Parts: sequence; structure tokens; C-alpha cells
Amino acid sequence: MRKIVIAISGATGATYGVRLLEVLSSLETIEVHLVISSWGEKTIALETNYTPNQVKKMATFCHDFRNQGAVIASGSFGVDSMVIAPCSMKTVAAIAHGHADNLIVRSADVMLKEKKRLILVPRETPLNEIHLENMLKLTRAGIIIAPPMPAYYNSPSNLEDIVDHHVSRILDLLNIDNKLTCRWDSSIKIASGLEY
Ligand SMILES: Cc1cc2nc3c(=O)[nH]c(=O)nc-3n(C[C@H](O)[C@H](O)[C@H](O)COP(=O)(O)O)c2cc1C
Repeated sequence: MRKIVIAISGATGATYGVRLLEVLSSLETIEVHLVISSWGEKTIALETNYTPNQVKKMATFCHDFRNQGAVIASGSFGVDSMVIAPCSMKTVAAIAHGHADNLIVRSADVMLKEKKRLILVPRETPLNEIHLENMLKLTRAGIIIAPPMPAYYNSPSNLEDIVDHHVSRILDLLNIDNKLTCRWDSSIKIASGLEY
């Protein structure tokens, strides 16, 4: 069983974390560990059709954001990969500075020290110099920075298409086969007149 941590922090875009959780939880080979920050719970309630409790029930295990004694706070537990979606600039800053005062940042700190895959879906605009410096530092430390930027080449017709496209790219980064989105291929190139 592959152990994957999904964390939802308090940036807008809770739907990215919830959709990723929905997809991963449907796979029998994945054990999903979920952590939601206090502000993440508020954005879930504000922005999605789910309550935080409904989202928590989708995961294999859900851990309290304040519980630094949870299994995922230890490198010995053997988490394979972690995704923070969406990731606030506060959580980006805390990870960049090793300030592990909650379970999301502690788990991210563990991923870094164990040299495991950590993917952030940071969301803020515009980005200031401190945000950019922190993200550069994290990229150099081996973290994947994957902001939720929509692609237009596959003609999304609604918000779900846009969210699924990004969730699909995250699944790719986790090496999980998926058909959530229409990929760039020769039929799109021909339809758009780009085939030479
Ligand atoms: C509705 C709402 C939307 C927010 N959107 C963002 C955002 O897009 N990016 C961000 O960095 N912070 C955003 N914030 C602020 C964070 O929630 C705040 O900095 C919080 O302390 C983050 O804590 P956490 O990372 O532990 O969840 C938002 C707050 C609210 C209430």
C-alpha cells in the first residue's frame, strides 16, 4: 500500500485538494492520509459543496492539524509522497523556514528530510518578492511547485474541466495513471490547424 498525505491549507481553491482526495481515495492501492488546517476547513465550507466533515470521511485516515504526535509526523511511518493543495503563502513560508508548528508543516518537513516527493499547489496573486524567494528556496530543496494555472489548449467548458486538468497533472507527478483530462495530442493539433 502506497501512503500518500494530502493537506488542504487556507488558500482559495479548496476544490483542488478535495478533487485530488476523491480520485486518490477511489484507488485500492493508495492509503490516503488527510490533514486540513483551520483556515482550510473554512475555505472548504465557503467554496465547495462539502462540509469539512464530509471531506474528512473521504480519506483512509484523517489527522488533527494540531496533533504533532500523528503517525505522519514521523519519518519512520514511511509516507511515499505528499501534496499540499491548495498551499497558502503562510504554509509556503513555514516550510521554507522549517517552522513546523502544525501537522501540515511538520509532515512537509519530514518529506524533505526523508528525501520524498513533496508537491505544493501554491495559490496567491500577485506574488511578492518574499513569496517568490520562498518558492525558489523550496524548488532548490527538491519540492515541486505546481501552481493551479489553467490550460486553454484543450478547450475547458467548465470549472470542473479546469480543476481536473490540474489534478491530472498532479497525479502524473505522483506517477499515477489517469484519464482525467484531454491530453495534448495529434487530434488537437490537427483540429487547431497546428499539424504540419
Ligand atoms: C476566503 C479566503 C481566501 C484566502 N485565499 C488565500 C490565498 O489564495 N493565498 C494565501 O496565501 N492565503 C489566502 N488566505 C489567507 C490564509 O487563509 C491565511 O494566511 C491563513 O493563516 C493560512 O493558514 P494555513 O496555511 O495554516 O491554512 C485566504 C483566506 C480566506 C479567508
